[in-house]
Amino acid sequence: MNCTPVIDYRLLVDSLTTAVLLVDDNLNIFYLNSSCEALFDISLLRASGMSALQLLETPNDIFNTKDALKKTLSQGQAYTRREAIINVNFNDIHVDYSVSQVQPSKNTEPFLIIELTPIERMLKITKDENLIQQHQVTRQLIRGVAHEIKNPLGGIRGATQLLARSLNDKKYNEFTDIIISEVDRLRVLADTMLGSRQLPSYVDVNIHEPLERVRSLVSNQTKKKVKIVRDYDLSLPSIKADRDQLIQVMLNVSINAVQAILENKNFFQDQETTPTLIFRTRIQRLVTINSVLHRSAVRIDIEDNGPGIPEDILESVFYPLVTKRANGTGLGLSIAQNIMHQHNGMIDCQSTVGKTTFSLYLPWES
Ligand SMILES: Nc1ncnc2c1ncn2[C@@H]1O[C@H](COP(=O)(O)OP(=O)(O)OP(=O)(O)O)[C@@H](O)[C@H]1O
Ligand SMILES: [Mg+2]
Repeated sequence: MNCTPVIDYRLLVDSLTTAVLLVDDNLNIFYLNSSCEALFDISLLRASGMSALQLLETPNDIFNTKDALKKTLSQGQAYTRREAIINVNFNDIHVDYSVSQVQPSKNTEPFLIIELTPIERMLKITKDENLIQQHQVTRQLIRGVAHEIKNPLGGIRGATQLLARSLNDKKYNEFTDIIISEVDRLRVLADTMLGSRQLPSYVDVNIHEPLERVRSLVSNQTKKKVKIVRDYDLSLPSIKADRDQLIQVMLNVSINAVQAILENKNFFQDQETTPTLIFRTRIQRLVTINSVLHRSAVRIDIEDNGPGIPEDILESVFYPLVTKRANGTGLGLSIAQNIMHQHNGMIDCQSTVGKTTFSLYLPWES
């Protein structure tokens, strides 16, 4: 027997990855689906009754959105706009969108259905995939090199100790001590390059708990020279994660921010701003990580108002050995990204002068 499933159309529209906006004959919004909520960072409750022009119009746009929407309403002729710019939380986002008229029956007023596709998301997915692939290759390379460095170190150390003993002359001790301490330094470096050998142990973690731990560590370290602002969404669900590894990720990113702040004191004097670190937590709808689209993820932003990441390393900042600091190994972010990948998550970074944000994404399925 052929049994057709009963379709819940609202659920269907809410499951689309295309953002859908329904607008009445006064151009007021009366429905938007989950993807549209995520795109405009606005809830259905807040958007209901709001003019669609508030979302679709941007200053300096020569295209007359109001006239075009009205025309489609009255004449029924659909249109598509390519590479339109919409503004969400002061950020410009490029989208393609199509507007069509729907008239359910002769006696009811027509309404508009607007379907939006962000262009950046497609570009970003390809960029992220490339980045993850390249990252895996370099990570293997680094581990291989670290192994090769580490192997002879035990032998060199042992032989030097024997040499020191057999020379039996204090004046040579200085040289053998140098060899031993440099060997020890290399061993620590090689261990860092190899990364943790412990398998992650996943437990339910409320991410505010490790975040608070990192906040107090950073606040002790900076001795109140850096203001730390907390902007938490306390309704976030727990996620399965390795708590200690999460602390390491948050710490690596926060320490970088603190270093960027403390090593550039003149920047804050010139700008007349207070060195500030923001810890922000949010739910993020529709995130693509390593080609997998997750409906929701926990997002942790660690933001500083320092001078920003130098432009020449901005694209490669997560690669191992990329550093601009005299004493840096350039491994902090690479290790952090690796841990996030093990958690099926990722770190993203946006940086301009005065605002650098590292966003940690950890998928969470309802
Ligand atoms: N918040 C930030 N502001 C400015 N620059 C940053 C920030 N975070 C990272 N960077 C830059 O990215 C580089 C790489 O960071 P990463 O943590 O991987 O290595 P590192 O800090 O140099 O060394 P390590 O962490 O191994 O001690 C840093 O040297 C710094 O130039
Ligand atoms: Mg670092």
